[in-house]
Amino acid sequence: MGHYKRITVEPITGTIGAEIGDVDLTRLDAETVAEIRAAFLEHCVVFFRDQPLEIPQLKEFAGHFGPFGIEPYVKTMEDHPEVIAVVKEADEVNAINFGGHWHSDWSLQENPPLATILHGTDIPPYGGDTLFANSYLAYETLSDGMKAIVDPLIAIHSARKPYGTGKSLLGSKERRSMTILHSEEAHAEMEHPLVRIHPETGKKLLYINPVYTVRLKGMSEKDSSEILDKLFRHSINEIFTCRFRWRKNSVAMWDNRCVMHLALNDYDGHRREMHRVTIAGDRPYGEAMPRNIESPERMSS
Ligand code: SIN
Repeated sequence: MGHYKRITVEPITGTIGAEIGDVDLTRLDAETVAEIRAAFLEHCVVFFRDQPLEIPQLKEFAGHFGPFGIEPYVKTMEDHPEVIAVVKEADEVNAINFGGHWHSDWSLQENPPLATILHGTDIPPYGGDTLFANSYLAYETLSDGMKAIVDPLIAIHSARKPYGTGKSLLGSKERRSMTILHSEEAHAEMEHPLVRIHPETGKKLLYINPVYTVRLKGMSEKDSSEILDKLFRHSINEIFTCRFRWRKNSVAMWDNRCVMHLALNDYDGHRREMHRVTIAGDRPYGEAMPRNIESPERMSS
């Protein structure tokens, strides 16, 4: 791509994802950071290879893009409250992995993260790839009639399916190498526009995901699921996705506002460890919930 002077940017599919080269993430000047940000906005998720980052260096890299996000429901690293160690041990056979369903990070928050950065430190010999889906295309490829239906809708997001007190999407509450903090608080609900306008690109996208989007405002879960399930299936059409094969010291940085992702769980018998930080984001807005409205109170279900 011709418009980058400090870095190389090679798209990995025609619709989402690019690998950035010629860069050392521990030695960045302002121009290089600006180019990384431009590539991130252009490709929705960017990848770097051979970046042996210690935790402080990962945090320093993240700091170029904004303050850290808030990490609820998962115990973070002892000395680094901003960092989650995403771990599945070799003997956690049949365990459901963290991030193993399509989602965008913490969409249940009032201000969900702008970006997530993931650094691979212990990578299985095969498997454990991460899939990403482009939510701009999910919206843009709807028919005009369907766009008119979804544009005014408000979606309700909640952490209750993975982190609530009932049966969890994450499977057994014991035997996990990560400490998941299940609570009543996870049953709270948050409203976001179903069609979000990206605050930097100005483009519309479908802002839903099957983990946290639990229903549509003003509809029962059953009625909502008829619309949502159709949109979820449409959003992960393979043409909108890319698949990243990790190596030790690879880094992925995705625009959490316009990307869903999923970690594959196909490496039983092998260990996988990643370090994850998020960058704080803004309150989503769209035609259904214009910008700068007073933030509604968090509702309890
Ligand atoms: C996540 O959902 O943040 C984890 C993704 C991964 O482990 O690949």
